[in-house]
Amino acid sequence: MKAAVLKALGSPLAVETVPDPVLGTGEVIVDVAATKVLAYAGDVLSGQRRYLLEPPIVPGAGCIGRVREVGPDATELAPGDWVFCDPTVRSRDNAQAPDIILQGLTAGSQRALRLQKYFHDGSWAERTRVPTECVVRIGAISDAEAVSWCAFGNFAVAYGGYVAANLQPGETVLVNGATGAFGSGGVAVALAMGASTVIATGRNQQALDDLARRFGKRVRPVRMAGDEERDRQAILDLAGAPIDCVLDLLPPAATPAQVRAALLTVRPYGRVVLMGGVRQDVGVPYDWLMRHCITIHGQWMYRRDAIPRLIALVRSGLLSLEHHQAKCFGLDDVNEAIAHAAAHAGPFSMTVLRP
Ligand SMILES: NC(=O)c1ccc[n+]([C@@H]2O[C@H](COP(=O)([O-])OP(=O)(O)OC[C@H]3O[C@@H](n4cnc5c(N)ncnc54)[C@H](OP(=O)(O)O)[C@@H]3O)[C@@H](O)[C@H]2O)c1
Repeated sequence: MKAAVLKALGSPLAVETVPDPVLGTGEVIVDVAATKVLAYAGDVLSGQRRYLLEPPIVPGAGCIGRVREVGPDATELAPGDWVFCDPTVRSRDNAQAPDIILQGLTAGSQRALRLQKYFHDGSWAERTRVPTECVVRIGAISDAEAVSWCAFGNFAVAYGGYVAANLQPGETVLVNGATGAFGSGGVAVALAMGASTVIATGRNQQALDDLARRFGKRVRPVRMAGDEERDRQAILDLAGAPIDCVLDLLPPAATPAQVRAALLTVRPYGRVVLMGGVRQDVGVPYDWLMRHCITIHGQWMYRRDAIPRLIALVRSGLLSLEHHQAKCFGLDDVNEAIAHAAAHAGPFSMTVLRP
């Protein structure tokens, strides 16, 4: 089959013929119909993000595709099914604290490199081999709809955060980094889950205005100026109600002060979910946490059982995949696709490979 191969960190991908994946028990082979190129894929593949990725490797985290072959232990999946392939692969030998890899993107930890050695290749190929539990049926779609379904992953991340924080209908949510690819998904998902108000922070006024225009008056944009105290006050002035849940999705370039500006607005007994790429210590006051009974969740991706519920939100019409504009590339143009994705980062914009 044809695949895009990363031979060394920092080198352009080579598009070549590689052996077809071979099915094992507990696995599914999927024909890849559409697979997203993350805006920061170039930073990962250059080594700049220091993700744990051992070349040679076929990159690509998750996809929308059709089941080609199922292992002998699958009871529901059948060839031809349209599916979402979840890149979140968990080790199966520790139910309590499984290692996690994002297939085709990062091993996450040194220990998980063993798992990545086996589920090594991702989805930038004509076919991909995925653990059975990561293949979820989405129902019948047209081939063209496979592209819009690539937005599903953007929504799933934020949904995983809200599930962790037990978000309830009627609550007030703050999304920090709401003008980003995953943050804007967080705004859409909170509304779909019945949030009464979503406070959306960002520095880019145009992107904030766009969020308000798309989603109407339940979204309250707040422009961040980079002054922690001032930004926090701006959020509180605009909130209109105590903030029940804060979801942070800031990137590595963001500062701890940007995280704190939002985090410390949460009401007493509120919940905070940290899901962004910030690597520095954030410095949350111990006394404030304790006296206000605050819960802070770190969350990587989402629980598996959340996926069918999110599919149901899309299928019911509560969550629309139609906000995203996609630019599609063939596998031969994978390097161009990576450059395009970097140049078009941000809300409701997707770069998609169609192997
Ligand atoms: N935990 C998980 O499961 C998970 C899953 C996927 C992704 N992530 C993480 O989510 C993070 C966001 O990804 P993304 O693709 O949404 O990023 P993105 O599109 O670049 O969005 C970044 C957001 O942060 C804001 N921002 C604030 N300070 C910034 C700064 N100094 N530099 C750049 N942007 C800044 C940007 O908007 P303004 O310019 O308007 O401020 C924007 O809202 C990544 O770090 C990624 O690793 C986590």
